[in-house]
Amino acid sequence: MTPRSWKLVCLDCAREHAGLEVRYRCDCGGTLDVVHDLEALRGGIDFATFDRRLVSKEPANRSGVWRFRELILPVDAEAIATRGEGNTGLYESKAVASYVGLSRVQLKHEGENPTGSFKDRGMCVGITVAGLLGKRRVACASTGNTSASMASYAAGRGLEAIVFIPEGKIAFGKLSQALAYGAKTIQIEGDFDDAMRLVQQVCDHADIYLLNSINPFRIEGQKAIGFELLQDRDWQVPDWIVLPGGNLGNNSALSKGLMELKALGLIEKLPRIAVIQAHGANPLYRAFSSGEPLQPLEGVETIATAIRIGNPVSGKKSLRGLAACHGVVEEVTDDEILEAKAVVDAAGIGAEPASCATVAGMRKLAASGVIDRGADVCGILTGHLLKDPDTVVRYHRGELGEPSSKRRNTLIQVEPSLEAILAALD
Ligand code: F0G
Repeated sequence: MTPRSWKLVCLDCAREHAGLEVRYRCDCGGTLDVVHDLEALRGGIDFATFDRRLVSKEPANRSGVWRFRELILPVDAEAIATRGEGNTGLYESKAVASYVGLSRVQLKHEGENPTGSFKDRGMCVGITVAGLLGKRRVACASTGNTSASMASYAAGRGLEAIVFIPEGKIAFGKLSQALAYGAKTIQIEGDFDDAMRLVQQVCDHADIYLLNSINPFRIEGQKAIGFELLQDRDWQVPDWIVLPGGNLGNNSALSKGLMELKALGLIEKLPRIAVIQAHGANPLYRAFSSGEPLQPLEGVETIATAIRIGNPVSGKKSLRGLAACHGVVEEVTDDEILEAKAVVDAAGIGAEPASCATVAGMRKLAASGVIDRGADVCGILTGHLLKDPDTVVRYHRGELGEPSSKRRNTLIQVEPSLEAILAALD
């Protein structure tokens, strides 16, 4: 195999491994980083190149991931898998800003990716690498979005997709996608952490390529959220980026990418990062606020099923990024998530519950003074509103209990007559 310009390096023991091999962990058990040859890149890549690509019709340039390929994974154009991922909207809403108590907020809506979540950014790279390694079967454990994304990209490449999901705990939109895209879908009696443990065993025993974010190439693709956010803002670094945390791949990726931009001298400062966890699934919050090492949690529970995770695989990478970005971790209750969601939805933006932990967290951090009212703040909405329609309908029907449903938009039942309808409109 041709030598690659990147290598895999263990986060725990710093041992180096070849750039392209089937490997998810070091022999010591540590997680792996893709380390690029930044020395070779220095001076060779600039923001003007990325901006020029933005108006190109080449699929690799149109993709909001592969546009930044030198910093993601420099592979030949014909090797790349793409569905034109990224290019997501950056919204400003006065209603959301006023709700969170900040003078201005920008929200990057990653739910506008091809399969409706930020996962497509990492998955296009994971599937590309599966192809480079000659793999025919790919697998993941998922709370729903990773599996939807993997199933779609695998189908596009003619690969067999196998997904492991926690029984009864994934939102309907996501389950529909896995089934519709033709993935072999296996429900595990247990939670996401059980499914994650089992899929790793399965991939160790069979010739199946693992595409959870333990796979370091997934993280490389996800870095592009940060790159594209800066590009949207004419490369101005915000004061804060706020995002939800579950398996902790996304915030690890965000900080890694930004740290690389800084190391290359392309940006001068790093933003601060705030990771928001659900109160019922908060291992990172506990570790961060106690200063103790991250401990796995059993029996986690939250309405935001996407982040219902007790044993995140990227804990260490996440803490590294938080240290570099002078980050903070906050937790929010399900009620806070649902209320923030009602505000984001009613602003016409809309997002799934886990995404709205971002907005609930911003509100809490603004109230406690951690984020200044006048700060330049960006939030990441990670998934589309239609991923979890069940929660939306139950909320507005008042089935989630008080105080959850205080921003209900009640369904109006009327007789089929003009008078009745006019009366109802009054
Ligand atoms: N938001 C949504 C909508 C998600 O689907 C996830 C993770 C997260 C936030 C958290 O991101 O895990 O990188 O910290 N979903 C995974 C899945 C676990 O299987 O789809 P993270």
